[in-house]
Amino acid sequence: MKNILVTGACGQIGSELSLVLRKRYGSDNVIAAGHITKPSDDLYNSGPFVFLDCTKIETISDVVSKYKIDSIYHLAALLSAVAESKPQQAWDVNMNGLYNILEVSREYKCAVFVPSSIGAFGTNTPQDNTPQDTIQRPNTMYGVTKVAGELLCDYYFKRFDVDTRGVRFPGIISNVTLPGGGTTDYAVEIYYEAIKQRKYTCFLKSGTFLDMMYMPDTIKAAIDIMEANPDVLIHRNAFNVSAMSFAPEDIAAEIKKHIPDFVMDYNIDPVRQAIAESWPNKMDDSSAMIEWGWKPEYDLSSMTKDMLEKLCNKLQINI
Ligand code: SER
Repeated sequence: MKNILVTGACGQIGSELSLVLRKRYGSDNVIAAGHITKPSDDLYNSGPFVFLDCTKIETISDVVSKYKIDSIYHLAALLSAVAESKPQQAWDVNMNGLYNILEVSREYKCAVFVPSSIGAFGTNTPQDNTPQDTIQRPNTMYGVTKVAGELLCDYYFKRFDVDTRGVRFPGIISNVTLPGGGTTDYAVEIYYEAIKQRKYTCFLKSGTFLDMMYMPDTIKAAIDIMEANPDVLIHRNAFNVSAMSFAPEDIAAEIKKHIPDFVMDYNIDPVRQAIAESWPNKMDDSSAMIEWGWKPEYDLSSMTKDMLEKLCNKLQINI
């Protein structure tokens, strides 16, 4: 990888991944692209930044040709809960945006990383130890775009030799940029509220198990799969990856070890609860481990310790 484009660079993953890529491959070689959200000072000042609307193919080809891009991390997408409230826009951004990226990659011979999600599964998928290859019949617009996206990426690899690779990310927990309207967002909000209010009202029911991952592992997964030797990849789009599986009461109990007076109650959002119930409790990510050496570093306890330390610093609050 010499010149990298990151779409969705102002989002939860992009805002951190872009900075790590700049350290690894050189600041001037990583073009961060955002559309609606303003970039942070860190992102804006650390290397090239462009405004890019992925639904307009010519704006992508202009940037790819101008900066001689050879690899794209295509992160621009609407998350699950937002996508349910704006399904037409979700199709446009998640599907047409991806199609445009793949077409430009075909023309300019770029490698492409495309994140899929636990949202690519549905109610009739086995929920425990969800296999790498299994039934994928999601009933959300987000899920429809993720499954179709996986298939389209595999198609571009087989038909046009575009080097597409992807992972099915679980809920991502981070302390720099908030997620933009997903079903797993509670697991980020809970840390902010625990520090600020010592209280959190959760929108998912107790007992709702979902796969989760801390941001450093998320970045590692995205970089490792793109750097993997293609000869050993049996799968491509997309690999199950997970770091932990927990329910709301588990994360609350872990936070309580650090903030003993922390309390959590519940006010269930039926839309997000239904989405969460249609997703796996815990994915089997052994294909990623075998094919490209996937290994997460953080579990619930080490993540919680680090999240609380980083957020206390950021919010200037002692717990
Ligand atoms: N975190 C995402 C969401 O909740 C899952 O891919 O939408």
